[in-house]
Amino acid sequence: MADTDRFKKVIAHAKEYGFVFQSSEIYDGLSAVYDYGQNGSELKENIKRYWKDSMVKLHENIVGIDSAIFMHPTVWKASGHVGAFNDPLIDNKDSKKRYRADVLIEDHIEKIHGKINKDVEKAKKRFGDSFNEKQFRETNQRIIDRQKKIDEILSRFKKATEEGNLAEIKQIIIDEGITCPVSGSKNWTDVRQFNLMFDTKLGSLSEDADKIYLRPETAQGIFVNYLNVQKTGRMKLPFGIAQIGKAFRNEIVARQFIFRMREFEQMEMQFFIRPGEEDKWFDYWKNLRMQWHKILGLGDENYRFHDHENLAHYAKAATDIEFNFPFGFKELEGIHSRTDFDLSQHQKFSGKKLQYFDPETNESYVPYVIETSIGVDRMFLAVLSNAFDEETIKKEDGKSETRTVLHIPPALAPVKAAILPLVKKDGLPEKAREVLNLLKYDFNCQYEEKDSIGKRYRRQDAIGTPFCITVDHQTLEDNTVTLRHRDSMSQDRIKIENLPAIIDKEVNFKNLFKKLV
Ligand code: GAP
Repeated sequence: MADTDRFKKVIAHAKEYGFVFQSSEIYDGLSAVYDYGQNGSELKENIKRYWKDSMVKLHENIVGIDSAIFMHPTVWKASGHVGAFNDPLIDNKDSKKRYRADVLIEDHIEKIHGKINKDVEKAKKRFGDSFNEKQFRETNQRIIDRQKKIDEILSRFKKATEEGNLAEIKQIIIDEGITCPVSGSKNWTDVRQFNLMFDTKLGSLSEDADKIYLRPETAQGIFVNYLNVQKTGRMKLPFGIAQIGKAFRNEIVARQFIFRMREFEQMEMQFFIRPGEEDKWFDYWKNLRMQWHKILGLGDENYRFHDHENLAHYAKAATDIEFNFPFGFKELEGIHSRTDFDLSQHQKFSGKKLQYFDPETNESYVPYVIETSIGVDRMFLAVLSNAFDEETIKKEDGKSETRTVLHIPPALAPVKAAILPLVKKDGLPEKAREVLNLLKYDFNCQYEEKDSIGKRYRRQDAIGTPFCITVDHQTLEDNTVTLRHRDSMSQDRIKIENLPAIIDKEVNFKNLFKKLV
């Protein structure tokens, strides 16, 4: 299946099975804003708990907070967001479409990369087993020229961004002959900066009120509470503060479903350290975060690091963990070495000391920070798109049929077990409810008695339920049930009393966390 078709199917499936709905759909929706349905909200909660527990439960020196979305407006001046949280915009005069200039340039580079990969694929086929890809990339003149072109564009773009030279960014677009994807023309306006923060007014009389912002990242709520947490929690460096919460950005290029939204949720952790130790801790968090992803079992080959050349205004070093989404490898999480930028800025703008007294060195200093930052919604999309599968299976009569199944990691699955009486009579529903009562305090379960057992299995497969438990006439005699496994579709006869332990083994985060080293 082509990736675009697959992505369309994932989006349709997300709606049909109560995972994600367009916001305000009955009013034709609101662009790049989404609601999570009955199954989506459970999956989202599980993702958040998987993250929060891995931070706060597994680290003695990490604590969680929950700060407000509205903050004093000076926070955003200090953080640099008022001045520098901008996207360079350009309009095409013919199609009247607006684009992010940097995205146009990135897409252009991606096309050149695509041509290089095509050449490599062709050569692979031609030379077969004897093909040495590394050597081919280093010696083939066409590839060398194309790579040189990419490096040249990147270096021009980096310089222009650093200097805030918008005319040069436009010139790159002109020189590279980049056309509007809609009109096909090169009739561009000048590039100008557009701030991504939403603003609103505080107070009942808007004309007298101050402008405040909807936070574009949760991190600043952590920075301004650094001293409160350090003092009240008697925290010693190194220590971390973790937070999950909503963030808002007036994204211009809002596309790819829940990948880039205007209202989204972040899971961020700021790790406060002694200056000079930032490289060690940057590597530590890079590795640990990658492990956290990989132990979920979505396939190690679907992750890669991408080190930033263009650093955000606060960063000394930055890397992305990219995931292989249906539309290619894209950023899932960012890990940033933020130095003492934020705390120093808040110290300067607030006039309050934000220093740490180090009892080991007898010195006071502003701590450095390593940040890990991941979007809940992006993680949701990674899990959902990776889980979606259309399997062809052989039926007993020899014919084949398609089974749509979500192979969601069991620990994240919205529903852990479905309890299904074979028929709606003979005391089977009552017995099935006994099983439900045994399990419901520990696991999110569903009770279903409508339709044939086959149809009920399919419905549970489609929402990713790892276990189906069927109660039949034999259950009444010997207290055993049929336990069906989602992925293999195999069935075991199990004693009811053994169900909690069997389910727990598969769905408990503990078994995943034990793999973290
Ligand atoms: N505090 C640092 C920070 O906010 P970022 O790279 O701008 O860094 C971190 O964002 C993460 O937040 C991204 O890796 C992504 O997962 C998520 N994210 C950012 N913008 C988003 C958007 N418009 N929609 C959904 N998720 C977004």
